[in-house]
Amino acid sequence: MILVTGSAGFIGQAVCAALLMRGDTVVGLDNFNDYYDPRLKRDRLQRIAGSAGFTQIEADLVDRTAVDAVFSRHRPRHIVHLAAQAGVRYSFERPEAYVQSNVAGFVHLLEAARHTGAIEHFVYASSSSVYGGNLKQPFSVTDPVDRPVSLYAATKRAGELIAHVYALQFGLKLTGLRYFTVYGPWGRPDMAPVKFTRALLQGQPIEVYGHGDMQRDFTSIDDIVAGTLAALDDERHFGEVPHRLYNLGNSHPEPLMHFIEVLARLAGASPDLRMLPMQPGDVKSTSADIDTTTRDLGWRPTTSIEEGLPPMVEWCRSYYGPRGSG
Ligand SMILES: NC(=O)c1ccc[n+]([C@@H]2O[C@H](COP(=O)([O-])OP(=O)(O)OC[C@H]3O[C@@H](n4cnc5c(N)ncnc54)[C@H](O)[C@@H]3O)[C@@H](O)[C@H]2O)c1
Repeated sequence: MILVTGSAGFIGQAVCAALLMRGDTVVGLDNFNDYYDPRLKRDRLQRIAGSAGFTQIEADLVDRTAVDAVFSRHRPRHIVHLAAQAGVRYSFERPEAYVQSNVAGFVHLLEAARHTGAIEHFVYASSSSVYGGNLKQPFSVTDPVDRPVSLYAATKRAGELIAHVYALQFGLKLTGLRYFTVYGPWGRPDMAPVKFTRALLQGQPIEVYGHGDMQRDFTSIDDIVAGTLAALDDERHFGEVPHRLYNLGNSHPEPLMHFIEVLARLAGASPDLRMLPMQPGDVKSTSADIDTTTRDLGWRPTTSIEEGLPPMVEWCRSYYGPRGSG
């Protein structure tokens, strides 16, 4: 049985669907918080609600008793931990939400995993944001990552360091995945890909930070799901301390303005751009070095934005309505 946390989230629901499709038994856990509209989280889950082998639990990782109860009842052997308080900018408004979910909640899960003694592999989501102000591109998992520029990034890095301790002291096998800007159908409404698409469909202005002079390694949800499953299935490439980190990124950074052009073409709109300065916590460019990921996991992304964006724009049209405002 595989426990997937954050199962109502963008990546979590897609990972659950892929695991169920190949015949795994999955218990999903989510607290359905209202960082963005929880209706979207419930709608995502509707897609897998009736699947054989799926159980959904509404619980908060910050509640240690609830976490322990899930472990005693369902006895997971594998964990894919995707629940987190995400979002860079919001971390300056609600720092405590990040410390609670991303640090305390993660520790509760690690404690439960450690005490059962039955966990074969624990995979968790980290983020490209841990590279912070790193100027060397592309970002490699061997680069120093001690200069986070947002509280979100700092809690994600804290998670990696805490995971190292659980691997070192208790022998838990842990894999951290540094995801790079993920996009696709059922995506997050607080992130640029869906936010920009909705604005284009509505004929609203798009707020472009950093005056558009930014690059992102936009990575499709299909590639992210494939990489997450490849990491979960691989239990061979561990060192003496069984904690490892992989970049999951498209390794093809796109200038933000080109990304907007492609979106505008697909939405059939001419973009009304509001150029704004960089926001606190933003980084100018992200680019993934995926050599180790490809070598160990055999994973490489296969979806360009030209192939990956049309299904996302179509989904925005059907979910939010043709004018993006539903
Ligand atoms: N989407 C990206 O581009 C991206 C990039 C880098 C890293 N990540 C990481 O990947 C993971 C999944 O991200 P996502 O984009 O699917 O985000 P998401 O917000 O859509 O999903 C996270 C889910 O976790 C749940 N959750 C949050 N706190 C919880 C708690 N305390 N207890 C139980 N459930 C809780 C939320 O309700 C949500 O459904 C996160 O760890 C995120 O930090 C995402």
